[in-house]
Amino acid sequence: MSLGTDSVREIPEAGSMPRHIAIIMDGNGRWARKRLMPRMAGHKQGVETVRNVIKSCSEHGIEYLTLFAFSSENWRRPADEVSFLMQLFAGALEQEMTKLHENGIRFKVIGDISRFEPRIVKFIHQGEQLTAHNSKLTLTIAANYGGRWDIMQAMRKMIEESHNLPRQFKEADLTQYLSMNYAPEPDLFIRTGGEYRISNFLLWQLAYTELYFTNTPWPDFNKREFDLAIQSYQQRERRFGQTSEQIRQ
Ligand code: IPE
Ligand code: IPE
Ligand code: MG
Repeated sequence: MSLGTDSVREIPEAGSMPRHIAIIMDGNGRWARKRLMPRMAGHKQGVETVRNVIKSCSEHGIEYLTLFAFSSENWRRPADEVSFLMQLFAGALEQEMTKLHENGIRFKVIGDISRFEPRIVKFIHQGEQLTAHNSKLTLTIAANYGGRWDIMQAMRKMIEESHNLPRQFKEADLTQYLSMNYAPEPDLFIRTGGEYRISNFLLWQLAYTELYFTNTPWPDFNKREFDLAIQSYQQRERRFGQTSEQIRQ
């Protein structure tokens, strides 16, 4: 019998900074409604928060930031909202890429982008190419992303490349095909906006991630709120199946 599984990771030192933060940016619509504004105003304000969070991550020396921008289920929203979100995404890609590059940020997108307008697909590819060799912070945007989609597409590739021969697959055989195969698993997951669910985000990779939920809607998630999440993470004891006594030895 094997004593461990592939899922067991080396335990990061207690109190250390997270290397990888993954965020579900939620609560834009309710933020706007509360101010008697259209939902779109909340999305617009949310882009400001994205800028600020990227800045905070750079300042703290965080290596990976992954933001859930549009889920595979978000197509079910009213057509005018979907279209607004697409325009906002396209505009941000066009306007911000040079600045990201100047700041040493590597830009990546995960998700099935084949459904996006050709103009957006072009901006994504150009941005990824332009910033490919930057090493300060890797910013990943999850767009038309779903955790189950990711596992399924990885499984398809794994089976295809094993020439359909039955094999004893290990976790690592699959994880190399997951769309975020270039990053360690998230240390800290944050969801703003007061919901307590994962909403089909990184299902595989969140297995041992520390979860942090806040009622603050995304447009109000400022530097102070960000620091509170980091502080909460730093007070946790990550055990990966072991006992507290073993960890403190
Ligand atoms: C998150 O805010 C943004 C996206 C899903 C694109 P919401 O739009 O879900 O805001 P609420 O949950 O309705 O407040
Ligand atoms: C999750 O938010 C997706 C993004 C933040 C992009 P939703 O607001 O769409 O999640 P549910 O549908 O309420 O779970
Ligand atoms: Mg929501």
